[in-house]
Amino acid sequence: MSGRRGQRLYDWWSRHGELLDGLYDAAFLCRQAQLRAKSVDALALSPGDTVLELGCGDGRSLHRLRTRVGPRGRVVALDYSEGMVRRARERVREAGWTNVHVLRADASRLPLVGPVDAVYASMAASAMADPDAVARESRRLLRPGGRMALLDARPFGEPWTALNRLVVPVSRWATDWNPDADVTGALATAFDEVDLDTYVWGTVFVASARLADS
Ligand SMILES: C[S@@+](CC[C@H](N)C(=O)[O-])C[C@H]1O[C@@H](n2cnc3c(N)ncnc32)[C@H](O)[C@@H]1O
Repeated sequence: MSGRRGQRLYDWWSRHGELLDGLYDAAFLCRQAQLRAKSVDALALSPGDTVLELGCGDGRSLHRLRTRVGPRGRVVALDYSEGMVRRARERVREAGWTNVHVLRADASRLPLVGPVDAVYASMAASAMADPDAVARESRRLLRPGGRMALLDARPFGEPWTALNRLVVPVSRWATDWNPDADVTGALATAFDEVDLDTYVWGTVFVASARLADS
């Protein structure tokens, strides 16, 4: 699996979940729970659906996703960091969820066959080396009419761009964030419709993409 620096980094973060939470609270200006919920809403999940989560980290979105698909639905989550996969599996085991499965895999080469109803990624797509491949792979697995939703971050725009001189290198170093990644462009290429909502002065966004029905 490629991306060794990212995997090592996230193995480290997997042992420091509270610190990661603090970083998110700063990035989301303490609106973390609200914006995470909005991004899951964008998937329009129904009971019984199958949802795939890419870059699931320590599994902090699994409860929300599982609640939406219910006990008859299925959540498949993956991450390329061994440490994150271990944490997410612990969470699943402790909760006793039998319809949530966590795999170690690279989101740009999905070892899965579809179809799935929805694909989700929170704060992960812009830390992935090849967002175009991630969007293409997601499209491959989705059923017609399927949705993909991303919660993610991007650099400050005008009039705040001076802040990027600090925020960009620190975030790149600490989280393998790739601020140049054109995540929404990758969705626009792979999907038939894309909507974008922005928050926190435009630095946090929810992108939701949909395939045509047939
Ligand atoms: C900033 S964390 C976000 C974790 C979680 N989704 C959240 O909301 O807290 C980014 C995650 O993406 C994972 N990741 C990065 N590139 C990946 C790839 N190519 N395939 C799978 N996981 C990847 C990292 O290991 C890390 O757990």
